Amino acid sequence: MKIRLDKYLADMGCGTRSELKKEIRRGNVTVNGVPVKSPETKIDTETDKTVFRGQTVIYEQYEYFMLNKPAGVVSATSDRCEQTVTELIRDSKREDLFPAGRLDKDTEGLLLITNDGELAHRLLSPRKHIDKVYFARIEGMVTQEDADLFARGVDIGDEKKTLPADLRICSSGAISEITLTIREGRFHQVKRMFQAVGKRVIYLKRIRMGSLCLDESLKPGEYRKLTEEEVVELCSQGKKL
Ligand code: URA
Repeated sequence: MKIRLDKYLADMGCGTRSELKKEIRRGNVTVNGVPVKSPETKIDTETDKTVFRGQTVIYEQYEYFMLNKPAGVVSATSDRCEQTVTELIRDSKREDLFPAGRLDKDTEGLLLITNDGELAHRLLSPRKHIDKVYFARIEGMVTQEDADLFARGVDIGDEKKTLPADLRICSSGAISEITLTIREGRFHQVKRMFQAVGKRVIYLKRIRMGSLCLDESLKPGEYRKLTEEEVVELCSQGKKL
């Protein structure tokens, strides 16, 4: 890919476009060992070696972070009142990160933060039926009848019933613990499914999305870059389905 030198450096978090234009004109940037003073110069992101103030700047078109979303933070890029999930990612190069999907403010767990719009679109497309797995604590006794109903599809007040979902009961009592695999992403879906059987979700955490599993070593609010294998698998899964 070929892009302008000032954009190349701005995308990699070296400064604003106007600051970088000045830096380039001052001769603080070399490309393949030669000072380049024109910000419009096209850089080949694959082959050119760009050095800014003595540091080689490698271009990354996309960034992928796995966030363990904490409760109390909203799944948005900006908000006038609330802290957002992208504000938790402090060492990204790119300014154009967004959450691939939404978790409610009180939901914890796996959220992919990226600037790869194509991948996000594939993962979130209702036609792809990507698995989303949640762990939840439920007020009330969750039963096999609930599991059977969820497997057939449940009326949550939308035009259509939910798609078959896989409810596993880990423990059942006054407070039950379950995992639920759904293949859609309707608004408040897990909470509404339990509401439909007269029960209330009191804790909700997403633990998997497609091939991507939450790294349990991440505490709420912590994040890490996806490994190359995780990215490859996630990208190929979206394409296969
Ligand atoms: N279902 C919900 O009810 N809430 C979420 O945050 C995610 C799925």
